[in-house]
Amino acid sequence: MFISAVQIQKTIIQKKMRSTAKTVFLFIGLTIIATACQEEKTPPAFTPMETASLIPQPVETTQGQGYFEIDEETQILVEGEDPEMKKAVDFLEGMIAKASGFTLQEPSGNSNAMENIIVLKLDDPTGSASAEAYTLDINEKRIQVSSAGPAGIYYGIQTLRQLLPASIEKDSTSSTRLGIGAGVIKDEPRFAYRGSMLDVSRHFFSKEDVKRYIDLITPYKLNHLHLHLSDDQGWRIEIKSWPELTTKGGSTEVGGGDGGYYTQEDYKEIVQYAAAHFITVVPEIDMPGHTNAALASYPELNCDDKAPELYTGIEVGFSSFCVGKPITYKFIDDVVREISAITPGKYFHAGGDESHATQKDDYIKFVDSVQKIVSRHDKVMIGWDEIQFATLDSTTVAQFWASAENANGAVSKGHKLLISPASKMYMDMKYDSLTPLGLKWAGYIEIDDAYNWDPATYVKGITDKDILGVEAPLWAETLETIDQVEQMVFPRILAYAEIAWSPSTSKDWESFKARVKNNYPRLENMGIDFYKSPKL
Ligand code: ACM
Repeated sequence: MFISAVQIQKTIIQKKMRSTAKTVFLFIGLTIIATACQEEKTPPAFTPMETASLIPQPVETTQGQGYFEIDEETQILVEGEDPEMKKAVDFLEGMIAKASGFTLQEPSGNSNAMENIIVLKLDDPTGSASAEAYTLDINEKRIQVSSAGPAGIYYGIQTLRQLLPASIEKDSTSSTRLGIGAGVIKDEPRFAYRGSMLDVSRHFFSKEDVKRYIDLITPYKLNHLHLHLSDDQGWRIEIKSWPELTTKGGSTEVGGGDGGYYTQEDYKEIVQYAAAHFITVVPEIDMPGHTNAALASYPELNCDDKAPELYTGIEVGFSSFCVGKPITYKFIDDVVREISAITPGKYFHAGGDESHATQKDDYIKFVDSVQKIVSRHDKVMIGWDEIQFATLDSTTVAQFWASAENANGAVSKGHKLLISPASKMYMDMKYDSLTPLGLKWAGYIEIDDAYNWDPATYVKGITDKDILGVEAPLWAETLETIDQVEQMVFPRILAYAEIAWSPSTSKDWESFKARVKNNYPRLENMGIDFYKSPKL
C-alpha cells in the first residue's frame, strides 16, 4: 500500500490530537473523581456531645474528638444472646431506615478490626449493673452501646437518637447527613418506675392514639404506661364473662359522645406495642368508687339491684360497688383474672381513690379483699394513696396523689410509693389562666413548676429509698382528641422524665430550659402539638 508523505503527516497530527484529547479527558475525569472524593470528606454537620440538648440529662458525658457518620455502608453487630435484643435492634434499624433510607449492613469481617460499625453489646448480665444502665461510646470508627440488659441498650439508642440531627424525627426520609459528635455517655436511671397515666375512660382514646402516645413518650426513657380503664363515665376493656360492661358501660363518655372500648385483642396489641418500646402496661380498674359505668351495666352489683343511668358529667365520689355482696367479689375476681391473663407486667392497679360513697369500714374490708384477689392472680397491687388505710401485703404500692399523711402512712406500713402529686404532676392541670383545656382544682402547673421540685423532699419524712418511682397522670375530662392530649403533655412530660431518670444533683432549671427550647424542632418534626411556654 502506498502512503504519501502528506498522509503520514496527517496521521501523525490526528494521533497527536487524539492523544491530547485523551489527556484532557483524563485530566477532567481525575478532577471530577478528586472533587467527589473531596466532597465525601467534608464533615457532616454534627452537635458536639457536650452541647447536645439531651432529655433526660445523662449521668456523665465526656466529649471526644470528631464525629461518627452513619451512611449506606454502616454495619450493625449484636454481641450477646437475649431474645429481647431484637426489639432494640428493630428500633435502631427502623429509625435509621426512616431517617435516611439506609439499611444497616451485616458485618463482613472480624468485628475488632471493623470500622463504620454500630456495636450493641450485652455485658455480663451477672454483674451488679442495672439492666437499664448503659454506656454509649462514640468515636470516628464505631459506636458502641453496652449494657447488662436489652432495656439499657434501648435507652442508649434513645440517647443516640437525640444526638442525631432533629430531621430524623420527620415522617419522611431526608438527605441530611447523619453526623454524631464523639464522646462517652455513662448513664443510669434514678428510679426504677418511670411512668405516665392516660385516662381513656372520661374520653375514649383509640388503640392508634395509645400507640402514638407510646411513640411520644419512649424517647424520654419512660418505662410504664398506666391505663385508667374504668371510671364512672366508661368501661373500656372487654371482659368476656361480663359482656355488658363494654356494650353498655363503654357506650358513652363525658359530654355524651360515643365512647368506645378495647377488645382483648386490641389490648394485647397495645401491650405488645408498648413492650416493643420497653414499656410495661399497668391496667387500672378503679374501685369501689368511680364505678358508675359498671353499676349501670349490671344491676346486681348495686345494693338495691337497680342499675343507675349511664353518667356523662364530671363529678366524682358518688358511686360505689355493693361491698357486702358476694357477687361483687365474684365479679372482681373475673375482671382481675381476665385482665391479668393478658397483662405480662407485674402490676394491677385497683384504684381506691375518692370512695366518698363507701363507709370507711367497708372501704377497708373491700380493699383488703381486692388485694387478695389481685395476689391470687399473681399481680402486685397498686392503689391511690387512700388504700393505705387497709391492711395490705407490704409489696403493695401506694400512689401518692393527694395526701402527704397517706403517703407517710403507707411508708410506715412498709409500702413503696409511686409519686404523682396532683399539684406538681397532673398534666390535665392548666399551665396558666389562659390555657383553654384542662382543669385547675390542683392549681396551675407551668413548665418551671413541673420541673422545680424533687420527689424525695416533697413530702416530709419520705426519702429516695421509699420511692419506687414517679408517674405523670393525664386525666381526660376536658380532652377529646390526641392533639389535645399532646398540648397538655408536652413539654411538661420532659420535666417529669428528667425528674424520674436524672440524679437530683444535676437539677438545673437554666440548663433544662435551654434544652427544652432546643428540642422544639424535634417536637415539631414529631408532629406534636405542644404548648409554647412563655417561661422558656
Ligand atoms: C385522683 O386524682 N382521683 C387519683
